[in-house]
Amino acid sequence: MQQDWQSELQQVLRYLESHEVDFVDRWAQWLRIPSISSDPAYRADLERAADWVLGQLQQMGLSAQKIPTAGPPLVYAESPAVPEAPTVLVYGHYDVQPAEPWEAWQSPPFEPTVRDGAMYARGATDDKGQLLTHLWSTEAWLREVGRLPVRLKFLIEGEEEVGSEHLEQFLYHRPEPLACDCLVISDGTQFGPDQPAICYGLRGIAYYELRLRGPKRDLHSGSFGGTVTNPANALARILASLVDDRGRIQIPGFYEQVEPLSPQERQRLAQLPFDEQRFLAELGLCSTSGEEGYTLLERRWARPTFDIHGLWGGYQGEGTKTVLPAEAGAKFSFRLVPHQDPAKITQGLRQRLQELCPPGIQMELLETHGTPAVLVPVESPYVQAACRAIQQAFGRAPVFIREGGSIPIVAAFQQAFGVPVLLLGWGQDDDNTHAPNERFRLADFHRGIRASAYLWAELAQMR
Ligand code: BES
Ligand code: MN
Ligand code: MN
Repeated sequence: MQQDWQSELQQVLRYLESHEVDFVDRWAQWLRIPSISSDPAYRADLERAADWVLGQLQQMGLSAQKIPTAGPPLVYAESPAVPEAPTVLVYGHYDVQPAEPWEAWQSPPFEPTVRDGAMYARGATDDKGQLLTHLWSTEAWLREVGRLPVRLKFLIEGEEEVGSEHLEQFLYHRPEPLACDCLVISDGTQFGPDQPAICYGLRGIAYYELRLRGPKRDLHSGSFGGTVTNPANALARILASLVDDRGRIQIPGFYEQVEPLSPQERQRLAQLPFDEQRFLAELGLCSTSGEEGYTLLERRWARPTFDIHGLWGGYQGEGTKTVLPAEAGAKFSFRLVPHQDPAKITQGLRQRLQELCPPGIQMELLETHGTPAVLVPVESPYVQAACRAIQQAFGRAPVFIREGGSIPIVAAFQQAFGVPVLLLGWGQDDDNTHAPNERFRLADFHRGIRASAYLWAELAQMR
């Protein structure tokens, strides 16, 4: 017999209402911990961030543990099995991106501050705030009703922002404890203000660092310029040669596996109420750019890209210096679309770099991380359940979108379990993720919590 959870839901919603301030306070505690995964100096803070969320899961009565890895620990928790109801795995990450440039923050990145109805802090939306929506809804069910409509498992990691290497290994070697009927992730955005969305596609990524070395020491550019290759000049030329004027990436085999977008999908994307003028205004730009022949949303979500993330070489200080630097380098990545294989991209890239490398330069390419893109089927009844939950919490039906970002573990999960993945982003495009003044609006936070509370009841109808 399936249960109708209506009266329990009313109790849960009352708990959510009366705990709004408390939810925000505890969220701020977590945001104070600078759990930056890319810099080894913050290793102890990653541990503290893991302990903090472990404590929350234990306090709500779940059986929870920290699982050590060669990197930051995983945090895992589960509730008791529920007969005839599915098992739902919630994934999220407690690590955050570096906060640089610190001086551009209006309030310091690790001193969470509520301003104009939004929480400002590194990790506010990506992903501490969004992940907490599922913990708080779970807490409400457990405190008010004493049990959950579905069995929940939580898997929370601390190196998503650097490629999820150790979680991927864990999934590969010991997937059994994580077995589930569906995966829920809130680590993305809505389509716009007051327009919730369900995301059915993420891009992949292939990330690199390129180092060029020339003469054995810095040289006077007057005495030596014109006789030896300047690594900074070489770097500029090489990087510029990786993409042409039409936005096509110039690497052998790069587009080989790329499937053309179907006319149906192009039509669906074109029907989304996207306001290009507003997009430009919000970014302080007067024109967009990108691959020829594609609309803005197609270029943003469903076509591959090349972007440089950092460049160095030569004099960066005040004033001028006529130096011919001994070294130059760059960090860059390609965003990938379904069927592109990061390992193949690396092969093609190495070949292309070989061709482009001028005499007098020693080149080293480091492969930082790679993850393929994913598409998740939208026909699943689990997706329908998520639609109903969002409709009830937001008062508006979600639209279906793709996103340009990457969540490395999704592809590995799909491979391990082949279960539906619900990508339910509660953030907004102007939340400044990975940038100064990252924020998450309190209204979105609380609506996310309510949608999550409905979701557990809706998913209970699945089996
Ligand atoms: N939450 C993002 C992924 C995301 C961004 C999803 C935008 C949807 C829309 C995630 O934390 C992230 O930033 N991932 C990295 C992964 C990479 C470093 C391996 C990314 O996309 O750059
Ligand atoms: Mn994230
Ligand atoms: Mn991120």
